[in-house]
Amino acid sequence: MSRPKNNLIREDKILDQTLRPQKWDEYIGQELIKRNLKILIDAAAERNEPVEHLLFYGPAGLGKTTLAYLIAKEMNRQIKVTSGPAIERVGDLASILTNLSPGDILFIDEAHRLNKMVEEILYPAMESRSLDIIIGKGPSARSIQLELPSFTLIAATTRIALLSSPLRSRFSGGTFRLDFYNHEEIKKIILRSAAILNTEIENEAAEKIAKRSRFTPRIANNLLKRSRDYAQIHNQSLIDIEAAVKAMELLEIDEAGLTAHDRQLLKNIIEKFSGGPVGLQTLSAALSEDEATIEEVYEPYLIQLGFIERTSRGRVATPHAYTHLGKKPPQKPLM
Ligand code: ADE
Repeated sequence: MSRPKNNLIREDKILDQTLRPQKWDEYIGQELIKRNLKILIDAAAERNEPVEHLLFYGPAGLGKTTLAYLIAKEMNRQIKVTSGPAIERVGDLASILTNLSPGDILFIDEAHRLNKMVEEILYPAMESRSLDIIIGKGPSARSIQLELPSFTLIAATTRIALLSSPLRSRFSGGTFRLDFYNHEEIKKIILRSAAILNTEIENEAAEKIAKRSRFTPRIANNLLKRSRDYAQIHNQSLIDIEAAVKAMELLEIDEAGLTAHDRQLLKNIIEKFSGGPVGLQTLSAALSEDEATIEEVYEPYLIQLGFIERTSRGRVATPHAYTHLGKKPPQKPLM
């Protein structure tokens, strides 16, 4: 077994907790998921059992980690936080699992980046709380089985398709897809965060920030903080509409919430590839951006806005994308 690494578990204090909801009722949005989880939590608590293993997936910044923290809080349990890439070896996972206390919640972020060998150790650990490990090499190798304390695994991923199906099937508590928030929810989050930051904000400024937040709380909070910086540097205690708009213009975030990179991606499809279809590999080479970043970071929002479509022959820019960039859409249908 490899030596336990002290960076396998992320400490609470490292995470930016300030704006994170601390109580179940403070969490805005994802209503159906919350309702389902609450039943799961209350029922498990009544039976004095740990919650069954849960899988959260969906685009980054929508609150998967926050939900895991809130579940731990509701259940009055400790949470240990780690991530797929931090668990490099079987020994790393063994060290994490054997250090859990009964009832602990183990949160694994970026679960799609767990390697196959680690995943295989995880199956029996999830299913029957047993850890099967092989010690030594060659003829002297022997297999040992350790019993683990009861625990709940909460895993989060932006790319569920990359999780093997045996792993997916072991989340007996359920698999929940977090969706983009709506405008009203994002605005509420901005107003709540402004109050926590002790900053006054004009209603219209909150509206503008919400509109450019890609329906994503993490982005909304970041834009709010940048608008607050802008106001502060200009000796204003209030974030007014001008401060918010100026701050976002400096960041090159446009009215629809697109960044310079998003616009570059659309321009590439339109100008270099006649609007598409263009394959992901080709697009990745043209933009000098890796395929996973295009798929995970840029595309979900551009697809959500209806600016690009994924077809079997590749990515296509829609007429909306042309109009957004001030270009005339082609006359003929593209597909
Ligand atoms: N801050 C970040 N995400 C949030 C959410 N879903 N509700 C309230 N505040 C948040």
